[in-house]
Amino acid sequence: MVQHSKSAAMFRTAQNSLLGGVPMNWMKKWAGAFPIFVNGAKGAHFSDADGCEYVDLCLGDTGAMTGHSPDVVVEAVAKRAREGITLMLPTEDALYVGEDLKKRFGLAYWQFTLTATDANRFSIRIAREITQRPKILVFHYCYHGTVDESFAGLKNDGVVGPRRGNIGPPVNPAETTRVVEFNDLNALEDALEQHDVACILAEPAMTNVGIILPEEGYWKAARELARRYGTLLIVDETHTICAGPGGCTAEWKLEPDMLVFGKAIGSGIPGGTYGCTEEVAQRISARMHLEDCDVGGIGGTLAGNALSLAAMRATLEQVLTKANFDKMIPLAVRFNDGVSAEIKRHGFPWNVQRLGCRAEYTFCQKPPRNGGESAAASDFELERFLHLYALNRGVLLTPFHNMALMCPATTEADIDLHTKVFAEAVKELT
Ligand SMILES: Cc1ncc(COP(=O)(O)O)c(C=O)c1O
Repeated sequence: MVQHSKSAAMFRTAQNSLLGGVPMNWMKKWAGAFPIFVNGAKGAHFSDADGCEYVDLCLGDTGAMTGHSPDVVVEAVAKRAREGITLMLPTEDALYVGEDLKKRFGLAYWQFTLTATDANRFSIRIAREITQRPKILVFHYCYHGTVDESFAGLKNDGVVGPRRGNIGPPVNPAETTRVVEFNDLNALEDALEQHDVACILAEPAMTNVGIILPEEGYWKAARELARRYGTLLIVDETHTICAGPGGCTAEWKLEPDMLVFGKAIGSGIPGGTYGCTEEVAQRISARMHLEDCDVGGIGGTLAGNALSLAAMRATLEQVLTKANFDKMIPLAVRFNDGVSAEIKRHGFPWNVQRLGCRAEYTFCQKPPRNGGESAAASDFELERFLHLYALNRGVLLTPFHNMALMCPATTEADIDLHTKVFAEAVKELT
């Protein structure tokens, strides 16, 4: 019998009603002819429709970095679901969450959305409104969700244009966006000195084109440049929360004007947040009027709903804790050591990088310095081979590049299984 025959059959049936046979278009990107259909997931593991068991190192591309369905969150959500899910009115959980985020990241005030994408969108709007500037700046090969302005890249001639694959861009993103390479302070200054950039939207370490760490002193200098040219710094910690309970902002003492965090904030129950400094709060409050506050382009009927806030409270209070990061980070170190030893054993020109409890290997000798370098080293066919090889042996990596994430329930045995499978895969490649 074929290993995934039930998933294959479901995928065939799904063609009748779902565009492309999947509920969301990216699900087509999994290596193999069809995605496997999930039966149940708990902690670091899940099983599929055919009864196969997996170690999950994708963890919903960070949405389940807390582990799947942590008991404390399930209980809080079940209780809340019985007592009212959405009201367009605040619940007491919001007070806890606001105070927690304030301590975690050091920003004064918080608002809630349903996704990190929305949190980025609204932060950009605020930055534009208070600076009265038209443009935003992002790094080449960044990803910040489906934010129109961020689907821009540098073409071969260095000019900004729509990123490859950009579906129906509303305008040429060159009109809205400047793009520079990460770790290049001269390019950043050149882009800011025209005084028309409202904000830099940045991950503190890039995570969506492999892991790219900032060079020593980069953020201190970039922060100073942003201040000098009157540009706000929005730090998107949606993935880099893997660095610790306060993300890279706390670990590296960054001083963002605004901060975005989504995905894992509610253990995968939809929710996102953005925070701002006292100064940003005063500047935006001065420009917002009560009568118009529901039509300003910031908000959402379900944003800040009671269920999301209950999930966030349980997650922040009991899951994304220092004690859990102290368990998760050494597992990522173990992952790195295992993969790195195999790469060396076979003399492959690959490397493996780590940020907190996230690890990733790229197909170049030295860790890339920026998005352009990392993208140049990508190899879609090779990636798919490695992913499918692992999937068929019970290990799930993300469908995008080669990322592995640890959750509080991940074990050393889970990591060792990946290392064993990785070793077998690279042996087949030699
Ligand atoms: C850094 C970063 N920000 C924001 C997002 C958007 O998250 P969502 O798709 O949940 O809105 C992503 C998604 O991968 C991301 O990687």
